[in-house]
Amino acid sequence: MSEPSAVVTARGAERISGGHLWIYRSDVRSAKAAPGDVVRVTEERGRLVGRAFWSDKSQIALRFLTREDEPVDRAFFERRIRAAADLRSKVVENTEAWRVIYGEGDLLPSLIVDRYGDYLVIQTLSQGSEKRKADFVEILAEQFAPRGILERNEPKARLLEGLPQTISVLHGEVPEETIVQMNGVRLRLELRGGQKTGAFLDQRENYSAAARYLRGEVLDCFAYSGAFGLHAAPAAQKVEAVDISGAALKTARQNAELNRLQNFHVREGNAFDVLKEYDQAGRRFDAVILDPPAFAKSRSALSAARRGYKEINLRGLKLLRRGGMLVTCSCSHHLGEAQFAELLWEAAVDVGVLVRVVERRSQSRDHPILLTVPETIYIKCFIIERLE
Ligand SMILES: C[S@@+](CC[C@H](N)C(=O)[O-])C[C@H]1O[C@@H](n2cnc3c(N)ncnc32)[C@H](O)[C@@H]1O
Repeated sequence: MSEPSAVVTARGAERISGGHLWIYRSDVRSAKAAPGDVVRVTEERGRLVGRAFWSDKSQIALRFLTREDEPVDRAFFERRIRAAADLRSKVVENTEAWRVIYGEGDLLPSLIVDRYGDYLVIQTLSQGSEKRKADFVEILAEQFAPRGILERNEPKARLLEGLPQTISVLHGEVPEETIVQMNGVRLRLELRGGQKTGAFLDQRENYSAAARYLRGEVLDCFAYSGAFGLHAAPAAQKVEAVDISGAALKTARQNAELNRLQNFHVREGNAFDVLKEYDQAGRRFDAVILDPPAFAKSRSALSAARRGYKEINLRGLKLLRRGGMLVTCSCSHHLGEAQFAELLWEAAVDVGVLVRVVERRSQSRDHPILLTVPETIYIKCFIIERLE
């Protein structure tokens, strides 16, 4: 049987030699492959471009696994997964929860694996990674010996691939919830029901970085299950965690009890309204944390998103006492770091405060950035001090 194959345009091939891992459908000339096959990709003149996952549905038709002439078999995936683990052994410390595999950032496009203590959570977000799911589960079981592996395959990205949204146990046993230690803080996680795969692991390093500066009265907006505030609470006088989700705040309250924190309180509400209300009431804080959901899910949503970011940052800065700290994040890939910095600058000018950037941060290092795939970078996190 001949190897599944695809032929791409010169423009598509150039994208891959330029370091990106995706070729869009408009640059595919022809394909002889079943959905999810690994295909041998050549240019029209026959030159090898590499081997990639083929999708017959998504606009991202090809996701490259290698640019070399090598077989993509089980041994190939074993090596890639071992390499991902090797990086984590250097950059992950003091935590039982981290991202084991970050898709394109680990040259394993569309495969996400997170570790929560004894359990792994997997997402296969394209036809290609879905087709090899059983292999991945076997390799993960061999290399990491988890008690259980859960698939959290409900992201909408799967619909673009014609794949169903599903949550199921693929190996061993997985409880409804588990408790993990992260940076010395204990966190309860709903494995099947929580946002993302259970926690925002991409912010793990930012929690402890921010906690170094946070004292006094802390307002944690868009708090989810409270991770920023829980890290800050031991050195703070009081933390108030605000989120629109009652379920997330229930977990936040349980987390506060788990860590014996009596100065941690929650408030259910729309953070835009709460910030406005506190501002109008003249309330002041020593620290404000802003970690909203991605306001710009696409490039076209950017200008509305920019207004949203500007508004919360403006109010956040207004609520700060002199010497106070703003920890402000954006997880919109479409809003670049320079654009985010510019709107923070505008907000500071509008409020009339002098601020200095104490730290400019990104996602945790277990979410490695492939420089030539801009989609792998998304978190911006500025830690800012209000001077005057
Ligand atoms: C990026 S997550 C926050 C993650 C959290 N800081 C952490 O590190 O675990 C965004 C959160 O904002 C909440 N949210 C979305 N819209 C909101 C709104 N208008 N007001 C308050 N919370 C909102 C979501 O429920 C979600 O928990």
